[in-house]
Amino acid sequence: MQAWPYPLYIGHRGAGKTAPENTLAAMRVGAQYGYRMFEFDTKLSGDGTLILMHDDTLERTSDGVGRVAALGYGELMRLDAGSWQGSRFAGEPIPSLARILTWLQAHEFTANIEIKPCPGRERETGAAVALEVQALWKKGVVPLLSSFSQEAIEAAREAAPDLPRGLLLHEFQADWREQCAALGCMALHANQRWLDEQIIAEAHEAGLRVLTYTVNDPQRAQELIDAGLDGLITDAVDVISPGV
Ligand code: G3P
Ligand code: MG
Repeated sequence: MQAWPYPLYIGHRGAGKTAPENTLAAMRVGAQYGYRMFEFDTKLSGDGTLILMHDDTLERTSDGVGRVAALGYGELMRLDAGSWQGSRFAGEPIPSLARILTWLQAHEFTANIEIKPCPGRERETGAAVALEVQALWKKGVVPLLSSFSQEAIEAAREAAPDLPRGLLLHEFQADWREQCAALGCMALHANQRWLDEQIIAEAHEAGLRVLTYTVNDPQRAQELIDAGLDGLITDAVDVISPGV
C-alpha cells in the first residue's frame, strides 16, 4: 500500500452539526476539538468559482434562494450561511475553495475535498477542483479528492494525475476493486452501513485505503478502527475525540 499521511479522524462538512456545514467557522470549531482534517463538499458557482456547498440549491444552508449554479460568486459570497445554525454564526459566508485552501495550509491541516458537481457539470467541476488544488497547495499534506461521480474523478485525474483520489460508494457494489483501479483511486470511501472487517481487509489486500462516512456512534467508530479503518468521517466532533 502507498504511504498514508492522513489523520484517522476527519470532521464531516467541517464539524458535523456543531457548526454551519461547509464554512470556515465549522473548521475552526472542528480544530478546537482537535481535528486536523476536514471533509467538505465543493461545487462551481454559476460563473465558475469553486465554493463550499453540499446542496445544489441554497435554501437549506443559507438565506439565499434557488440554484447555486444560477448565481455568480459575487452574489453567493454575500449570503448568510451561518444563521441557520444559531446567532453566533450569523453572517458566516459561503467560502471559496481558494480561501479554505489558504486557511488549511496556514494551520498545517489537510482535507478530504468531496467533488460534488451540480448535475451536468461533472467533468468541469472535477477538472476545476484538481487544477485549483494543484495551483494553490504549496505545503503540507495535500488534500485527498473524492467523489460519487466517476466522471468528476476521471476529469480530476486527467487534469492533475498526481493528486490522491478516492471513490465514494453509497451502496455496496461488488466490483468496487475494479472501479477504484479504473479511476486510479488509492482509497475506497464507503458508507458505514455496508462496511465491515472483511471488506477493509480485502481493500488492504488490493492496496487500497478505506475511509467511511458518516460514523457518529463512538462504539461503531471503535469497531471499524479495530478492523483497520484508515479514515473516519464523523459529525460527532464533540463526542469522538481524535485524542490529541
Ligand atoms: O464524503 C463523505 C460524505 O460527505 C458523503 O456524503 O452527502 O454527506 O456529502 P454527503
Ligand atoms: Mg460530503
